Amino acid sequence: MNEALERAFTEPGLRPLPDVVAALLRDVGAPPRLGAHLRAVHDVAVQIVDGPVFSNAGVDREAVLFGAATHDIGKVRFPGELTGPGAQHEPAGEQLLVRLGVDERLARFAALHGRWDRDRATLDELLVTLADKVWKGRREPGLEQKVAEVVAAATGEPVWAAYMRLDDELTRIADGADERLAFQARFPP
Ligand SMILES: [Fe+2]
Repeated sequence: MNEALERAFTEPGLRPLPDVVAALLRDVGAPPRLGAHLRAVHDVAVQIVDGPVFSNAGVDREAVLFGAATHDIGKVRFPGELTGPGAQHEPAGEQLLVRLGVDERLARFAALHGRWDRDRATLDELLVTLADKVWKGRREPGLEQKVAEVVAAATGEPVWAAYMRLDDELTRIADGADERLAFQARFPP
């Protein structure tokens, strides 16, 4: 048992990862830093999908939360990408999840979380990427605009109104970024 990884799963302050994801991360020998990162991004994804903006937007809650909790699992194969740039972990993560028996529908987030600027990105995919930005306080106006457009299409409200509601919500969530960053930094890569 990797004690630091277990601490990353259980230290108070953030919502726990789904049990099935914690088990997968143990199986693949995830570095503690990766476990902590995935927990922080999952926590933010819960705040986003359970917030007021997405209550009528047709989000697949379980899929988004699974995607947020596993999106970087490919960094097990490319650990250099835990501390530096690189996108090799993206396809590797999807392959790893499929090999572990995860449905393609849920594994795809690992491959797609870095490619939000595609024409056919779904709202669920965009929300995983959004959580992966906002957890550390990063704001991405182009991504948020795209999310607001999809929400507006689902709710019938004007895009600017959806954008403003989203902006309020993300500003509130981004306020917790320093604590999440400090939490993640306590775990070794
Ligand atoms: Fe990430």
